[in-house]
Amino acid sequence: MPETAEIVEVGPRDGLQNEARLIPTEEKIALVDLLSCAGFRRIEVASFVSPKWVPQMADGAEVLSGIQRWDGVRYMALTPNMRGYDGAKAAGVDQVAVFASASEGFSKANLNASIPESLERFEEVVRTAKADGLSVRGYVSCVTDCPFDGAVAPTEVAKVSAALLAMGCDEISLGDTIGRGTPDAVDAMLAAVLQVAEMDMLAGHFHDTSGLALENVDVALERGLRIFDSAVGGLGGCPYAPGAAGNLATEKLDAHLVTRGYHTGLQRHFVAKAGRMAKEMRNGGG
Ligand code: HMG
Ligand code: MG
Repeated sequence: MPETAEIVEVGPRDGLQNEARLIPTEEKIALVDLLSCAGFRRIEVASFVSPKWVPQMADGAEVLSGIQRWDGVRYMALTPNMRGYDGAKAAGVDQVAVFASASEGFSKANLNASIPESLERFEEVVRTAKADGLSVRGYVSCVTDCPFDGAVAPTEVAKVSAALLAMGCDEISLGDTIGRGTPDAVDAMLAAVLQVAEMDMLAGHFHDTSGLALENVDVALERGLRIFDSAVGGLGGCPYAPGAAGNLATEKLDAHLVTRGYHTGLQRHFVAKAGRMAKEMRNGGG
């Protein structure tokens, strides 16, 4: 029996949030519906953030009400505060995500809050979500490098991860937000985080700016991680992280994991079709 690795598809959120063209809601729904056919167990479909900050994500509720819900697929959304949480809950999400940074520069740029202020804000979100029976993902951004502060110490990543776990997050997704992490830096970061978290609670979220994302996946596999985020078509970036290029492409990640002997459960032709659709969306729609 091959060992299982989970790919969490974040394209409809992390992929599309950075696109300059305001993508029509129907196109987003069509992409999510295609992804549901592909065999993902989790798809991040929306962000309930300020539309002034990320206009592209303003239609999260409409996307969630328009998609077909597949049994066995959990539909996730980002929720930076209680307002976002209430919107996501009303839209019927299955999992919410709070998102912190290991560096102060990015925390301020992305959330208009210091790291401690953001963690304080997330406490109520996580507590409420858990009371409502929803599972919660905690992102930590800039796990090796920050576009504002430079190199980030592994201990800072461990500190923020521990705080998110202590408030009740079920999983931590470790984000190389600008895709500058080298395998050595990722390995040192994971060694620190594994002091405070079990390996099955950790996910790797690698952007592919420097073409090192798959090497970083290998480092994480070696450390025991089996959950990875990616975006079909390699879409993505973060509007508040200058230099952040696309996410690791799901097509590449799936092929890589399968070659390494892992079972991902994805249907390759649907993933490829979704990748083509995502690229058309980037190029102005079909
Ligand atoms: P703020 O300006 O400090 O907050 O933003 P505010 O409370 O003053 O609100 C500003 C306005 O937004 C107000 O409206 C609020 O009502 C409204 P106004 O009174 O001016 O008309 N507002 C909201 N509207 C809808 N939904 C909400 C909401 N909250 C406030 N939830 C805030 C603080 C957190 C809202 C803002 O900084 C924000 O939205 N940031 C999100 C930025 C973002 O989405 N970044 C991309 C996702 S993170 C990422 O990509 C990294 C990741 O992929 C991992 C990795 O790669 O590392 C996850
Ligand atoms: Mg990201």
